[in-house]
Amino acid sequence: MRILTGIQPSGALHLGNYFGAMLPAIQLQEQGEAFYFIANYHSMTSLTDAAARRRYTMDVALDFMACGLDPKRCVFWRQSDTPEHTELAWILSTVTPIGLLERCHSFKDKAARLGSGELGGVNHGLFAYPVLMAADILLYNSNIVPVGKDQKQHLEVTRDIAIKFNLLYGETFVVPEPLIRDDVAVVPGLDGEKMSKSYNNTIEIFGDEKAIRKKIMSIQMDSRTPQEPKPDAEKNLVIQLMKLVAPISVAADFEGRLRAGGLGYGDLKKALFEQYWNYFATARQRRAELAANLDYVETQLRDGAERARSVGGVVLKKAKRACGLD
Ligand code: ADP
Ligand code: TRP
Repeated sequence: MRILTGIQPSGALHLGNYFGAMLPAIQLQEQGEAFYFIANYHSMTSLTDAAARRRYTMDVALDFMACGLDPKRCVFWRQSDTPEHTELAWILSTVTPIGLLERCHSFKDKAARLGSGELGGVNHGLFAYPVLMAADILLYNSNIVPVGKDQKQHLEVTRDIAIKFNLLYGETFVVPEPLIRDDVAVVPGLDGEKMSKSYNNTIEIFGDEKAIRKKIMSIQMDSRTPQEPKPDAEKNLVIQLMKLVAPISVAADFEGRLRAGGLGYGDLKKALFEQYWNYFATARQRRAELAANLDYVETQLRDGAERARSVGGVVLKKAKRACGLD
């Protein structure tokens, strides 16, 4: 079974990304042949700062490897190191009905926000985004594609494209199944809304100690006194976050003390910071080691790209042959 997913390099990864996407992906390494790549071509549809892209790409590599992604156990690479993706994307674009792309919510939302300004407006890449994504997936005969709910429609487009190509040119591509993570809870941010970098409410996985402590200590609580019992303790935002990063018994203890009364919010937030800091201690150390050895990381990515190309090249050849290009 081949499991494939792409990760956009778009800034520092946060607890929402970690519990919602990274941890499940890292755990899936054990279940099949995992192919994970950094979708730096996709990031071009929204980010035009070259230095930032380079930095974010390396950050994603470091963050994932520090958190347990093992380039020995999976194939891990940078999308732009495998030109087969863009080559296949063109081929697929010729069997993709425009209407299919026009109906994509993600495109419609982004287009509505950008407007039609000649320079700042909607670019063709944004429109063609799902076709490149289909190429990413179909190139490797992927069976399972783990993604968040927001990517569900893009997976449907991929399936439609694969089926259409197979009908027109003969059985060529494996039609993939999405693995939608709707069992993972949405991680709340500092304001109680979904944690997201666009809401400015994130706790970064590898944030600066002082800055994260400050963020956590400034989480808004209600005005009940420490002594007052809090029968709704399980709804408390700090408790919810604590449950993610603290051992079960520790989180249960804090929840019990909050419910009974006598635990102040300041102490509770301090405890959350400590638990967060401990939870990522090993990963933090690993990340520092990797960051001091970027050549090693680079070698892993290049090696990953070579392994990816040896698989993708075969499928691309098959597709080219099927449509009379080869
Ligand atoms: P952001 O909302 O910060 O821009 P992305 O959309 O880049 O994050 O998220 C990448 C993946 O991380 C998503 O597909 C989703 O699965 C996961 N994710 C992001 N935020 C959360 C969250 N708050 N809770 C759970 N999962 C999340
Ligand atoms: N569009 C995905 C996202 O924003 C990233 C991505 C690019 C992807 N290509 C992919 C995910 C292929 C799965 C498979 O999260």
